[in-house]
Amino acid sequence: MQLNGARILLTGAGGGLGQALAQALAEAGASLLLVGRDQKKLATLAVNLAGGGQEVSTLAVDLKQPADVARLVEEAGRFQTDVLINNAGINAFGLFEQQDWARVADVLETNLAAPMRLTHALLSLLQSRERAAIVNIGSTFGSLPFPGFAAYSAAKAGMKGFSQALRRELWQERADGRIEVIYVAPRAIDTPLNTPAVNALNADLGSKSDSPEAAARQIVAALAAGRGETYLGFPERLFAWLNGVAPALIDRALKPKLAIVKRHARPAI
Ligand SMILES: NC(=O)c1ccc[n+]([C@@H]2O[C@H](COP(=O)([O-])OP(=O)(O)OC[C@H]3O[C@@H](n4cnc5c(N)ncnc54)[C@H](OP(=O)(O)O)[C@@H]3O)[C@@H](O)[C@H]2O)c1
Repeated sequence: MQLNGARILLTGAGGGLGQALAQALAEAGASLLLVGRDQKKLATLAVNLAGGGQEVSTLAVDLKQPADVARLVEEAGRFQTDVLINNAGINAFGLFEQQDWARVADVLETNLAAPMRLTHALLSLLQSRERAAIVNIGSTFGSLPFPGFAAYSAAKAGMKGFSQALRRELWQERADGRIEVIYVAPRAIDTPLNTPAVNALNADLGSKSDSPEAAARQIVAALAAGRGETYLGFPERLFAWLNGVAPALIDRALKPKLAIVKRHARPAI
């Protein structure tokens, strides 16, 4: 998709990856509707992005609140959105049995139900555009579910399934080059999403992470190329593939890691 002149609604714009995505998309010539909960963060970002000649708007909404989503849908119509990037998300690290149900529900709502609801509400607008795209930000854990991240892995696996089903549902529009459904699964990224416990776990496991800028560059490249699925990082993408074809092998490989996960896991609040 041609990004120069594209009109992109970006959720989670005030977060670590969101800010880097906004920067990269603005540099590519896109106009942006920046969405997050924290208006102050969005306004600062908008000021930093100003000067390129494109429109930069902001809207503070809680994507879990239907009334906020209705406001966002109205604004998205006015903005003439042709790309939706479902990037907002939260994490919850901890052993499932020790996690508070409210937190589990929050992860499922924020990371899966809310982006599905927003996509549903915006689909007819996107289909009315000459060219459009939906970009869903998943995670390596969506294809390589990990102990200590049961709710998060489940939600991201859901995002992957949702993206695939919707892409297959919209195949005619896709064949006409009118609408793309793109799923990108980053590995760990250095952002506030990861608590000190998660960072310590990643260090102990030897898991590599990307800078938000590096991840954003690859996501923008996937959107520009209209690539249906992109998995960031090696060997993460190999293990994710292996988990699909031989999950018992991954069960065995992860078994010795459980003690490390348990050492870092704390009862979730
Ligand atoms: N960081 C990683 O290691 C990693 C790895 C793989 C995938 N990802 C995915 O990348 C995406 C971006 O994460 P990040 O690392 O940039 O995290 P982040 O820095 O914590 O940013 C998350 C963003 O989501 C927004 N958000 C959360 N709940 C919301 C709600 N109910 N309504 C509206 N906005 C909400 C936050 O808004 P406020 O700013 O208003 O709080 C924030 O801007 C997520 O989907 C995440 O799962 C991250």
